[in-house]
Amino acid sequence: MHAPHQRTPLLLSPPHMGGHEREYIDDAFRTNWLAPLGPNVDGFEREMSHALGATPTGPMHALATSSGTAAIHLGLILLGVKPGDLVLCSSFTFVASANPIRQLGAEPVFVDSDNESWNMSPTALRRAIEELHAQGRKPRACIAVDLYGQGCDYAAIEALCDEWDIPILEDAAESLGASVHGRSCGTFGRLAALSFNGNKIITTTGGGMLVSTDPSLIERARFLATQAREPAPHYEHTTAGFNYRMSNVLAGIGRGQLRVLTDRVAARRANCLHYELALSQRPGVRFMPQPLWSRSTHWLTALTLDPTRAPCTRDELIHALAAEGIESRPLWKPMHRQPLFAGTQMFAHDAAKAPMCERLFDQGICLPSGSAMTQHDLSRVVECVERAFASTGVAVA
Ligand SMILES: Cc1ncc(COP(=O)(O)O)c(C=O)c1O
Repeated sequence: MHAPHQRTPLLLSPPHMGGHEREYIDDAFRTNWLAPLGPNVDGFEREMSHALGATPTGPMHALATSSGTAAIHLGLILLGVKPGDLVLCSSFTFVASANPIRQLGAEPVFVDSDNESWNMSPTALRRAIEELHAQGRKPRACIAVDLYGQGCDYAAIEALCDEWDIPILEDAAESLGASVHGRSCGTFGRLAALSFNGNKIITTTGGGMLVSTDPSLIERARFLATQAREPAPHYEHTTAGFNYRMSNVLAGIGRGQLRVLTDRVAARRANCLHYELALSQRPGVRFMPQPLWSRSTHWLTALTLDPTRAPCTRDELIHALAAEGIESRPLWKPMHRQPLFAGTQMFAHDAAKAPMCERLFDQGICLPSGSAMTQHDLSRVVECVERAFASTGVAVA
């Protein structure tokens, strides 16, 4: 029997308020800016642009949106994605990266992960572009997804997409606070999408942001996200727009959260280090690698259990953790294996082998990674993993 406090549920990635959020919300109430727009929205966009830092092509511009998915949708529209187009997309991701492709009448072409970063494989991307070229097709855009707090190999991916003149939309929903070659995730590609969903490293409960170094793209996105209202005293419309803006109250939460982003990154990195020190030497256990060019936030600590060597399987571990009130999850199920995307093209990292991302899904698990986790919480997870490793034949429901 465990002490009762050990049964307190331990969630994968719960929200973690910093204490400043109320000041901005109170301000919105005090000034009656309880509207879809207002000073918190302007402030959050300005402060996020600043936080993302400098890029080789100038400062960032930002549009706060109702979700990360809305930001991806707008981003694809701005890149000119139309019915019948092809859009390259990481297969190893959450469905929100790919849904807007289909919703625009275009077709996704999925690209495998590599072993070095678990993100989009530049090798598979090159093969995809060249084979499509041989078929007389040129993708309209490429959605590169930065998973679990880590950016893609942008040195290779940007060079390739530049060579073929394919614009990149960076899906940095999971990787705010990370960097690649010292440059912030969210600043790669022509446009990038961020998410502030409740499980993200900072949250507005729900929300997102579209960012770019190109102010004209962000201005166009602002127009489309605000019902495409033409400048006129009455309501004049020539384009079908969207209601995709973030509210002034939620942007207030975002402003407060942004003030503690650095602390949140440090806490998540420390969680991952704790798990690695305790578990990485066990047979068949492999943590998500961090290439030399990457500084991951480890938004979620992710690892694989090789079923031929590890002391228990991934599913046995998930079950053992759940039995002790500890939430864990399999890694993302690749999009090309989703019934929703049956029949779509998929390019593997190694054309002679099964796609890398299938193995990641079959063997991978995310451990609780919230930034408010205590040493006791972390030890509780590690002890539970060790018990699962020690007991042979853990029952799986
Ligand atoms: C990789 C990825 N892309 C897009 C999204 C969509 O963001 P949102 O939930 O804010 O719409 C998420 C998370 O929710 C995500 O993990």
